Order: sequence, then structure tokens, then C-alpha cells
Amino acid sequence: MADATGSLHGFPAALTSFVGRARAVEEVATQLAQDRLVTVTGPGGAGKTRLAGEVARRVAGGFADGVWLAELAAVTDPAQVAAVVGSALGIRDLPSVAAADALAQALSRRQLLLVLDNCEHVIGAAAELCGWLLLGADDVRVLATSREPLRIAGEVRYRLGPLTLPDPGDLAAAAQCEAVRLFADRATATEFALLLAVQPEPPVREVTAGAEPTAYGAAGLGLAAGGVAGLARLSPRERELVTLVAQGRTDAQIAAQLYITVRTVSSHLDRVRDKTGCRRRADLTRLALSAGLV
Ligand SMILES: Nc1ncnc2c1ncn2[C@@H]1O[C@H](COP(=O)(O)OP(=O)(O)O)[C@@H](O)[C@H]1O
Ligand SMILES: [Mg+2]
Repeated sequence: MADATGSLHGFPAALTSFVGRARAVEEVATQLAQDRLVTVTGPGGAGKTRLAGEVARRVAGGFADGVWLAELAAVTDPAQVAAVVGSALGIRDLPSVAAADALAQALSRRQLLLVLDNCEHVIGAAAELCGWLLLGADDVRVLATSREPLRIAGEVRYRLGPLTLPDPGDLAAAAQCEAVRLFADRATATEFALLLAVQPEPPVREVTAGAEPTAYGAAGLGLAAGGVAGLARLSPRERELVTLVAQGRTDAQIAAQLYITVRTVSSHLDRVRDKTGCRRRADLTRLALSAGLV
């Protein structure tokens, strides 16, 4: 089982980009350098698992026997927890009685980080196992993720808050917020145009049907899927017009630039208004800004 320093075992390749959370990664990594059991807690979908994976990558170099992921999400029987973790670590044939103790003994000479992911539904068994590991395997550290803490001696809890959210009063800054960046990233990845519309008064954030934002993105932003028609339904020409409006051009200037009549510009804009729900040029401008069209 001994491996080159810093190797990761059992971690799925990240299929999507990791957004933000620089501070959380840093803080959890620092905590792990000081304490042997750190539990990242937070509601489902908060990003605990994803964060743990990033932390694992960050700290891998510090563990001679590597970093190992034991995924507990699919474990239904608490009595199986030690065996599942053992098998994730390549240790089989643990006794059915006192398996946690035996696993701790088997790891007593290992210097590794165990990432115990999704502990909440087998919390008692996970806590018991961690207790044995802390007692019997001095050079083993554990990074657990769970909705609830394990509540054992030696545990340090790291509460994961939501990604930073946009301030409805500061639309210009919205694009920098982690939650918006994550959502925009995923919406763009679906090959649909970016569907986010942000309207300031009242603070409504809506997304058109067509793309499926992650549950996380939708929840984090308070988005209502399938609401007002948005940019995705605009024709390329209409989109071009929205960009020009957002750049502050008048109808006459747009007409001149596109070699069309002012009447045509205004009928295009009527359709844009119908599709986006933005009545005023200022609203259209905000929409274009939030979607990165300008
Ligand atoms: N910082 C992030 N960057 C990119 N995607 C993220 C981020 N945080 C969470 N996600 C995505 O959100 C979804 C839920 O995250 P997850 O880590 O499984 O939440 P939890 O473990 O708290 O239930 C996953 O699809 C995950 O890839
Ligand atoms: Mg999880």
C-alpha cells in the first residue's frame, strides 16, 4: 500500500471547474496541519465533498502514504463502514467483530490522510471508526464531510457557508460573486446561452428553461427555473441589438451601424422586450452586463 508521497487514491477526476472557495481550501488545509480530525459540515449541496477533494489535492504532498477517499454515500449498513473504508484503503479481510479497531491497527504505521466523505447517514459508525483511528494510528489524519459533526474528542469542525452571493444593490459586482461564477460556468457549459437575468427592484433573479443549473447553483442564487424568457431565446440579430443598447447607442445609431431602418430597430427591440421582460433600456443593459454580452 505504500505509495509515492502525495498520491491520491480513489478520487474521481474533476469533470467541472472548481470555483472560488480559495479561503476555505486554505483554512481547512491549515487546520489539518494542526489537528488530526477535521469535519467539514454544512447543508447538502453546499460543496463539502468538492471542497474536500480540493483540500486533498492541496495537502497530498504532506502524506508519505498518500490521500485516500472512502465514499460513504452508498453505505446503508453502519456495520459495513469499517469494511468499506478498509477496502477503499486496499485492506481487506477485516474481522467482522471489532473491525474499526483492526483497521486502526492495520494503519498504525501509515502516514496518510483519509477523506471520509458523506458521513451523515452513518454518523455513529463513522464517529466510532474515527475514534479508533485517532487512538491507534498516530500518523493518520481524517478529513470528514458530513451534514452534522461526528462529535468526538479531537474533532475540529469547519462550517462551510454558502458561496458568496450577489448583493442585489450592486449588480456590477455580481459577476464576481462565487455563486454567480459557478452558475455562469455551468450554464455556459450546457452550450445554451447564458440565461441569467438579474433585475434590481425587487431583487429577482431568474433563469429561463433550457439549461439545468445544478441544484447547488439554483439554490445558492435563489433562482427560479423556467421563469421569464431570457437571452437564450433571442435571435443572433436581437442579441446584437441588446449589446449595442447596452453600449449606450440610440436607435438611430444602431440603425446606421447595422444598415437597417430605425423602424426595423424598434421592431427588433419590441421583440427583445417581449422575450426578456425588460421594458426599459436600463434593464436591458443590466441584463446584458450580467450575461457578459458587453
Ligand atoms: N466550489 C465549487 N466549484 C465548482 N462546483 C462546485 C463547487 N462547490 C460545489 N460544486 C458542485 O455543486 C454540487 C454539490 O456539491 P457537493 O460537494 O457534492 O456538495 P455536498 O457534499 O455539500 O453535498 C456538485 O455538483 C459540485 O461539483
Ligand atoms: Mg457530499
